[in-house]
Amino acid sequence: MLAEPHFNRHPGFWKMLTVAVFMALLGCLQAQEHQGHVSIILLGATGDLAKKYLWQGLFQLYLDEAGKGHSFSFHGSALTTTEKGQEFMAKVLESLSCPKDVAPPRCAELKDQFQQLSQYRHLKTSEDYLALNKDIEARVQREGLWEAGRIFYFSVPPFAYADIARNINSSCRPGPGAWLRVVLEKPFGHDLLSAQQLATELGSFFQEEEMYRVDHYLGKQAVAQILPFRDQNRKFLDGLWNRHYVERVEIIMKETVDAEGRTSFYEKYGVIRDVLQNHLTEILTLVAMELPHNVSSWEAVLQHKLQAFQALRGLQKGSAVLGQYQAYSEQVRRELQKPDSFHSLTPTFAGILAHMDNLRWEGVPFILMSGKALDERVGYVRILFKNRAYCAQSEKHWVTDQSQCLPRQIIFYIGHGELGSPAVLVSRNLFRPSLPSKSWKEVEGQPGLRLFGRPLSDYYVYSPVREQDAYSILISHIFHRRKGSFITTENLLASWVFWTPLLDSLVHEVPRIYPGGAENGHLLDFEFSGNQLSFSQQQLEQLVPGPGSVPKPSDFQVLRAKYRESPLISAWPEELIAKLANDIEATAVQAVRRFGKFHLALSGGSSPIDLFQQLAMGHYGFPWAHTHLWLVDERCVPLWDPESNFQGLQAHLLQHVRVPYYNIHPMPVHLHQRLCAEEDQGAQIYAEEISALVTNSSFDLVLLGMGPDGHTASLFPQSPTGLDGEQLVVLTKSPFRPYDRMSLSLPLINRARKVAVLVMGRMKREITTLVSRVGYEPKKWPISGVLPASGQLVWYMDYEAFLG
Ligand code: BG6
Repeated sequence: MLAEPHFNRHPGFWKMLTVAVFMALLGCLQAQEHQGHVSIILLGATGDLAKKYLWQGLFQLYLDEAGKGHSFSFHGSALTTTEKGQEFMAKVLESLSCPKDVAPPRCAELKDQFQQLSQYRHLKTSEDYLALNKDIEARVQREGLWEAGRIFYFSVPPFAYADIARNINSSCRPGPGAWLRVVLEKPFGHDLLSAQQLATELGSFFQEEEMYRVDHYLGKQAVAQILPFRDQNRKFLDGLWNRHYVERVEIIMKETVDAEGRTSFYEKYGVIRDVLQNHLTEILTLVAMELPHNVSSWEAVLQHKLQAFQALRGLQKGSAVLGQYQAYSEQVRRELQKPDSFHSLTPTFAGILAHMDNLRWEGVPFILMSGKALDERVGYVRILFKNRAYCAQSEKHWVTDQSQCLPRQIIFYIGHGELGSPAVLVSRNLFRPSLPSKSWKEVEGQPGLRLFGRPLSDYYVYSPVREQDAYSILISHIFHRRKGSFITTENLLASWVFWTPLLDSLVHEVPRIYPGGAENGHLLDFEFSGNQLSFSQQQLEQLVPGPGSVPKPSDFQVLRAKYRESPLISAWPEELIAKLANDIEATAVQAVRRFGKFHLALSGGSSPIDLFQQLAMGHYGFPWAHTHLWLVDERCVPLWDPESNFQGLQAHLLQHVRVPYYNIHPMPVHLHQRLCAEEDQGAQIYAEEISALVTNSSFDLVLLGMGPDGHTASLFPQSPTGLDGEQLVVLTKSPFRPYDRMSLSLPLINRARKVAVLVMGRMKREITTLVSRVGYEPKKWPISGVLPASGQLVWYMDYEAFLG
């Protein structure tokens, strides 16, 4: 027999339930009627952003929320006189528009209501803020309301932030029980340090939860759909969203406008700070982060975002290509009253190659690109999948939703471009996606339209049911306290940690000049290989005065001569590196032929980087499988530290070639969780490893450099160890940071069959001249002690180091 339901046995149950439901409903209705008063203060109410988007966004908020129980007042404020401010506001409010489904008479009525609730006020001094506070309180009392909260929207330049924040904090906070939200617009700093300072300053006035930093791209419908899409399509994407399937990710924002009229801002920021550090980086984290179980928990999303930042590999100069549209410098000269000789180096175009060092994304290129004065306005994120299939049948028989030979891609189309509106597109041969049907609808593509090389009919295409402006969406999120669409302090600083080193390294970089618009042709096309990005086309003419009439490397031949009694090879840098790489390969091939293996000891620092890259890229005949790699010296930092020589080797060579991992011999500077402690005997351990594996401890080739003070390896002038004696490996001190080092000793270096010393750059000119004249004085100039006992020493110097 079935159990009798519990409530059937209690006749009073239904009565109680009815009363409870009634009370709850009544409670809800009452709460709706008295949801309190909200004051919204728009600072910078007469500015461009306010005019273009913010007033419209506030009107939309009023339309969406006013009928639901809240009452509102809107205060536009600026430094303009009351009269001018009022005049401006009247004009802007008159130009507001209603959604398409609101009939014109109703729209006029709503606009009228909104205008009644909006007033201009001059806000400058602390008295002005006190007066505002009083007015709000008086109004709330007069109308028998209670105050729900206040929103202060800072649409002002950042130098004004501190004063406004101080005034709000001291005289304009709402009373107990009511909330305060301050909305901040970028720029949030210029680099890590300035962002930290600004964050600390704001943090002294506001709680983190009170701050809403806007990145308006997070309000764009296609961007806001990335996480929900990933969540709702887990069953398809779980297996696909990773390095095994994804070929590359492109995050693109192209603009046709230029920076005219904004050069005073643009000169300080440039395209990377203006757009990549914020909009494109946010998108990158949404695509790359591990998906939280609950994508609507903003705390979980933030944690996953921060983890994504952690996994981003540091960018280097070679990870970027920069451009500047031709008219830019002239615009700057005109707008900022600069002399005719002024040339700006500010990039208005940038392409960046980023990588994530984690299991999901290892090796997948993430391309970020943005620029002004380009041929079209469009924004999108494109995830292109690998294609391993070969279709034996001819293309005319391929069926779009089945053929594995057609490209497979997912595109979050942010807007503009060929489509003209936001969309999510999924190749039909991937899967039919699921999107929230209330807000996204499947659409038919316009016939004849092609996107990313395929007719639109190749994709499932979804568009928003109601297209909305990003600012209206974000203003609604602020009102509803949906913090997930805003940038927290941690998030902001993580982004600056990522971008600042690259920005620093690009300060003196000359951008490629491009004509602007369709005339750019293929001038800005770029390509990547490994970690490097470069323009595809050689630049034919240099429009910015560069180094001028310096002859090209190919105009010169390699010069052979003697230096300190040993062979000297001198050339322009490119040729020199090519020659050295060839010589190393030839030595390696010979050693492997004779002994079955090749022991190569490499120096760190910046000079060999080009060599490593050369070896990594062009030397297919190199016997890497039989090569043992040793370190000449190491800094006493963990091996994963960017300062570690091993890191340089890893980044520029090891990750591109196939050396068996048991043939790689990093120096043991990090033992027992401490660095280069005598007691840990790291130097002895390394010496034993060398003795055990390298016949007679005689390396086949040692690559050295020479410092401006005559140091080589990590053997510095007056070093008490390593210049003579029995020890093969020693701990030393450097006069430069990091001070503690480990190094091969001179006696060990001098046992090598071949020693190559690479010296490059004008900075080395003086020491090159000096060392050419001195005898054997390793205490003063350790490099002068490099004299292989039975091996050969060869000097490789570029013309700048050798001829000055
Ligand atoms: C802003 C940048 O953040 O974004 C501008 O400061 C850029 O330089 C703008 O033009 C682009 O936004 P949207 O919404 O027009 O794509």
